[in-house]
Amino acid sequence: MRPQTKRLGDVIPAPALVVPEPAVTFAITPEALARAGAAVLSGALVDVSADSGEIRLERSDADALGAEGYRLEITATGVTVRAAERAGLFWGVQTLVQLGAGDGVLPGGVIEDRPRFAYRGAMLDLARHFFTVDEIKAHLDLLIQFKINHLHLHLTDDQGWRLEIPGWPRLTEIGGGPGTGCDGEGPGFLTLADYADVVAYAAERFVTVVPEIDMPGHVNAALVAYPELTADGQPVAPRTDAEVGYSSLVAGKEETYAFVETVLKTLADATPGPYLHLGGDECLSTTAEDYRAFLARVLPLPGKYGKRAIGWHEIAAADLPEGTVVQYWRPEEQDAGVGAAVAAGRSVIMSPADRTYLDMKYDAGTRLGLDWAGLVPVRRAYDWDPAERLAGVTEESLLGVAAPLWSETLRSVADVQYLTFPRLPAVAEIGWTPRAGRDWESFRERVALFGPRWEAAGVSYFRAPEIDWPSA
Ligand code: ACM
Repeated sequence: MRPQTKRLGDVIPAPALVVPEPAVTFAITPEALARAGAAVLSGALVDVSADSGEIRLERSDADALGAEGYRLEITATGVTVRAAERAGLFWGVQTLVQLGAGDGVLPGGVIEDRPRFAYRGAMLDLARHFFTVDEIKAHLDLLIQFKINHLHLHLTDDQGWRLEIPGWPRLTEIGGGPGTGCDGEGPGFLTLADYADVVAYAAERFVTVVPEIDMPGHVNAALVAYPELTADGQPVAPRTDAEVGYSSLVAGKEETYAFVETVLKTLADATPGPYLHLGGDECLSTTAEDYRAFLARVLPLPGKYGKRAIGWHEIAAADLPEGTVVQYWRPEEQDAGVGAAVAAGRSVIMSPADRTYLDMKYDAGTRLGLDWAGLVPVRRAYDWDPAERLAGVTEESLLGVAAPLWSETLRSVADVQYLTFPRLPAVAEIGWTPRAGRDWESFRERVALFGPRWEAAGVSYFRAPEIDWPSA
């Protein structure tokens, strides 16, 4: 049975430390909560404490809280959120928003909270189906409630090219034009101004945008736009099917590197965050020798422009410059390349497809999504640990976890939401909450509380039968 009264720990991700004061409650208005959120967003707290009605937001040098941690105290007379950095205040306010949902009555006590991992990511695939700036922002607004702090945008693939690159206009004229995307149903692209708008909106919310240009494979859209990049210089046909592994940049051609350098410099200049994602996955039509030769020239480029490279874990076949991050995506529990990369001091983001891929179907009847990595019901997304998943990958080598969402079967924001909720909260909790603080039965109860909230907000979530949702 679900308890009738709210509990201080009814938060996702579960906070690191919760000390309830059951005799105490404090009621806030939605307006006060909104003012607290606005105060953090406006940057008013950079140097000064501010008082927004009944909610006090304070900077404190208690460095035990770290860059993103916060201390939240709810007494009979008010609420105080303290943090060393504004990001911590922001996450503290997200906790308050969850606790105040519904009637605005906050359970009393103290929460002391900080994340397990620095990188808690979600990926959206704009290549197989384009989503507009407003759609990306609205999606981000839902992600931050769960303290997701990296938004990975998969900007290019065989079916589309979604970011303006000055000097290479046909990439987006053709690669973002009519008929692009899977089944030709996802046209569109971001201008650099659009991209800057998304990046700034994310940054205000303490989210780092991680842009991905997938190479040397997954490049058919680029080859269609610029046949001089193909092996024989001959035109290739556009494709809107969901096959993978048939396209490649040419490792032995200088045009390739002029193109890649312009793209990566453009991306580095447009991206304040520290990472550029270079893809590197599923290069089934690139020889192993060409793959390594290509990466030997391309992996140093992010560093040249002041960034760190992230790549899907296949890049571990190449020599990885210091600072390179490997994102593991396969379901298998062994990967020799990743093991060697970790032994050489490289860090890892865990995204095993059979746990974190939001585009896997929940069950055999799920209308959307794929099933190549199996079905991923909510418990499967929740009940695993990134430090126990892949041989050689320990807590110390983990930068974090991320939940990719590929768009082959998606045609709308409602489709995005349906596959994202309630599984994204599961992955977010894995990224934030200490291992010892995680428990499926507890998560199951807490995630049920979001059903009515998502309904009120018009969010098209999946009413997973594993969850005891309150009746509408
Ligand atoms: C991937 O799913 N090919 C990274």
